[in-house]
Amino acid sequence: MEQQTIGTEQRPLRIAIIGSGPAGFYAAGGLLKQKVVSVEVDMFDRLPTPFGLVRGGVAPDHQPVKAVCKTYERTALKPHFRFWGNVEFGKDVTKQELFQHYDCVVYAVGAQTDRQMGIPGEDLKGSHSATEFVGWYNGHPDFQHLKFDLSAKRVAIIGVGNVAVDVGRILAKTPEELAATDIADYAWQALKHNQVEEIYLIARRGPVQAAFTPVEARELLHLEKTDTVIAKSELELDVASQTVLDTTHDRCIVHNMEVMEHMPHEPGNKPCQLNLWFKRSPVEIYGKDGQVAGLKLVHNDLIEQDGRIRAKATERTEDLPVDLVFRSIGYLGVPLPDVSFDDWKGIIPNQEGRVIDQETKEWCEGEYVVGWAKRGPTGVIGTNKHDALDTIKHLLDDYNGRPSETSEKFRPEAIEDLLRSRKVRYVTYSDWQKLDSLETEAGQKKGKPREKFTTIEAMLEALGK
Ligand SMILES: Cc1cc2nc3c(=O)[nH]c(=O)nc-3n(C[C@H](O)[C@H](O)[C@H](O)COP(=O)(O)OP(=O)(O)OC[C@H]3O[C@@H](n4cnc5c(N)ncnc54)[C@H](O)[C@@H]3O)c2cc1C
Ligand SMILES: NC(=O)c1ccc[n+]([C@@H]2O[C@H](COP(=O)([O-])OP(=O)(O)OC[C@H]3O[C@@H](n4cnc5c(N)ncnc54)[C@H](OP(=O)(O)O)[C@@H]3O)[C@@H](O)[C@H]2O)c1
Repeated sequence: MEQQTIGTEQRPLRIAIIGSGPAGFYAAGGLLKQKVVSVEVDMFDRLPTPFGLVRGGVAPDHQPVKAVCKTYERTALKPHFRFWGNVEFGKDVTKQELFQHYDCVVYAVGAQTDRQMGIPGEDLKGSHSATEFVGWYNGHPDFQHLKFDLSAKRVAIIGVGNVAVDVGRILAKTPEELAATDIADYAWQALKHNQVEEIYLIARRGPVQAAFTPVEARELLHLEKTDTVIAKSELELDVASQTVLDTTHDRCIVHNMEVMEHMPHEPGNKPCQLNLWFKRSPVEIYGKDGQVAGLKLVHNDLIEQDGRIRAKATERTEDLPVDLVFRSIGYLGVPLPDVSFDDWKGIIPNQEGRVIDQETKEWCEGEYVVGWAKRGPTGVIGTNKHDALDTIKHLLDDYNGRPSETSEKFRPEAIEDLLRSRKVRYVTYSDWQKLDSLETEAGQKKGKPREKFTTIEAMLEALGK
């Protein structure tokens, strides 16, 4: 058999991307846009629906953010791109099988779970992760069955990142404020009867170290039924934080402080109050009859250590009676079968996107990683673009012009044959477009951008699969 060169029209470079969130789509976009190497890109997702956290994470009242999917759609409609939804890596198709059909695999699987605080009481009824609540109100099939006791009057949210702010804001809004969003219908119905009167956003460090961003903080000032309150004492800065504020070039810190200084310092007349608390860490979630009854908090001092300002517990403690707790202290990657993983960082270990073996530190040939699976769970949608393009540059450098060892990788139908033989009910991009139209039509009838399918069964049924 005549040996062919990879990356030519006769023998395109064949790439499988696992995950269809922003990172996966930016990687696909980068591969299909360049003109030097002929490529064929197949994207797999465990859900029948594409777009990862843009569909299942971004808050329903942040519709303009979701417009980024139009860019992803342009990539999806290019020749040499195929979408295989409802196909889970490690279950429906293994790494070994993929390498029989593709030259390389790009992992774009994000961070699929949440970090635990490791304190007593985390498993009590009424203690949840933000990941669960966010997945629930966004109609993610993994979370649609969950129940949250929204008769709760007092709610604590641990962490002050943008996810914590999302959770607080969704709880703080009226049903009318949420009506014209793509919130899952069951979540809207449940939130309609939401009895929450007091919400506490609790940070272990100070306002200068707050992880939320100014635009999101500012939104808390314009809530119909909720006053956002920050006591003046919460804004008193220690010397180190004051120095950071005085010398920083980070506009986010400066603007955050400006927004917080403009927040009311005293409670107003609205029926619900969202309080920002700083320099406190939960040390226990205590319960009554197995149900969350409150938080034991320790007050922190801030100390400078290794160039970072850290929280150091003092002797002072405080009890905060609450009925519900959401921990929002960050997402966490989960290992994929047969793929290198750094348990400590919760990422796929890599050097500039080339996956490396966690033990030997050698490159796992043909394996690449992008997005949250590469860097950890930080960064907005746009952050994933340059990150994915960096990885793709290495991939193209590594493979362009290599001699091809096998002709099987050149048979694009092979993966379809495999999935069919296994009776995997895969969803193509045109199937997704049909689901998309059904969702938007159903939404229009209710004055919403879309009414989501929230179970995989309902999606497959609508597609007649
Ligand atoms: C609650 C929340 C709200 C956010 N809001 C905003 C916002 O308003 N604006 C903003 O700019 N950024 C926002 N972000 C950040 C943004 O969503 C992330 O930067 C981005 O989604 C990360 O992209 P990713 O592709 O790495 O991961 P993801 O978006 O998580 O995509 C991973 C994909 O991989 C798939 N997958 C996982 N495992 C497998 C498997 N075994 N087999 C096949 N497929 C698999 C998943 O189904 C998913 O589709 C938000 C994040 C969160 C958590
Ligand atoms: N609208 C938007 O643009 C939007 C919306 C949602 C998410 N996002 C992005 O998505 C990414 C993830 O957001 P995120 O909110 O999950 O993470 P994040 O920004 O990293 O915030 C995590 C928060 O949890 C705190 N925390 C961590 N460990 C803790 C512990 N053991 N005890 C108490 N507090 C703890 C952190 O405090 P320390 O700082 O002290 O560690 C921080 O306040 C971010 O980049 C975010 O900007 C963007």
